[in-house]
Amino acid sequence: MALNSVAEAADCLRAGELVAFPTETVYGLGADARNPAALAKIFAAKGRPADHPLIVHLPDASHLERWAVDLPEAAFKLAAAFWPGPLTLILKRHPAVSDLVTGGQDTVGLRVPNHPLALALLHEFGNGIAAPSANRFGRISPTTAQHVREELGAAVAMVLDGGPCAVGIESTILDLTAAAPRILRPGAISAAEIARVLGAEVAGQGEYGETMPRVSGSLAAHYAPRTPLQLMAMDELVAAVQQSLAAGRRVAVLAPAPAPLQHTNLLWRVASADFSRFAHDLYATLRELDAAGCDSILVARPPATEPWRAVNDRLQRAAAGSNNA
Ligand code: TXA
Ligand code: MG
Repeated sequence: MALNSVAEAADCLRAGELVAFPTETVYGLGADARNPAALAKIFAAKGRPADHPLIVHLPDASHLERWAVDLPEAAFKLAAAFWPGPLTLILKRHPAVSDLVTGGQDTVGLRVPNHPLALALLHEFGNGIAAPSANRFGRISPTTAQHVREELGAAVAMVLDGGPCAVGIESTILDLTAAAPRILRPGAISAAEIARVLGAEVAGQGEYGETMPRVSGSLAAHYAPRTPLQLMAMDELVAAVQQSLAAGRRVAVLAPAPAPLQHTNLLWRVASADFSRFAHDLYATLRELDAAGCDSILVARPPATEPWRAVNDRLQRAAAGSNNA
């Protein structure tokens, strides 16, 4: 990536245009967080409801006070420990923050992303960049520049290409505005890691399906392919594949073991047994399986253990969302 594209991208942002850029989690659809007309373009491009708040990306933690007030000690500790990195902090908004960013709430989501191109853009721009994941509302988040081009095309003035995202799923969202820190969306940084830094308990995510305070990533139907997706145990899955094939249906599978049979109507992708590798590959693989034109996508349910929490969260939402599509 030539250095002048970063300068060009910063100019686009100053001109009120949208710029998609890589982060370590997923690609973001960026706009000048101080420019309401530019922010409105994000909602139009994504087809996102106007009351869903946006995360503001900052060049570094020294910008915190421009966006949030009443900062708790925990915010500084976590910023020092995890930024740049996949952790979003929900804090009390500064009065200057646009309602388009906060969704009219009295809080704001802030993070410093850990990707050289994102950081170069943020430093060149010198201010906050509001950026949701660069996908249409409710669909699978993009982890390559090509995903963004395919899905948003002309709505974006520029797409900075930083290669595939290292983490692959969205940041952990931690609410620091309540009595105790609480995770609103699980991600690569776990509750245990946060608790270790704070020396305090961290409330986990609510039960699946519970209504969260306007975190669109917490809607049951989210991150969804168009093809119906089901999660099942491995033995169930093999039986379901056999049944589907016998009925003349086309099936796509994501499972940690190699295919037990070959069939022209079967597309089988082997999933990693390592959770961070699984997360890294998840969205690109779901896009590939979705594009294959199968009647269903069957995913072997990963272990129900703590390291797999964020991956299980996204898979459950993908399943719920695909059935509504
Ligand atoms: O990893 C990420 O967080 C990516 C990259 C681009 O940084 N961004 C991302 O943005 O996932 P988005 O908009 O797709 O998801 C952000 C979530 C949304 O569910 C939004 O509702 C929630 O963060 N959010 C933002 N501000 C909030 C606030 N003040 N209170 C509660 N939730 C908030
Ligand atoms: Mg999103």
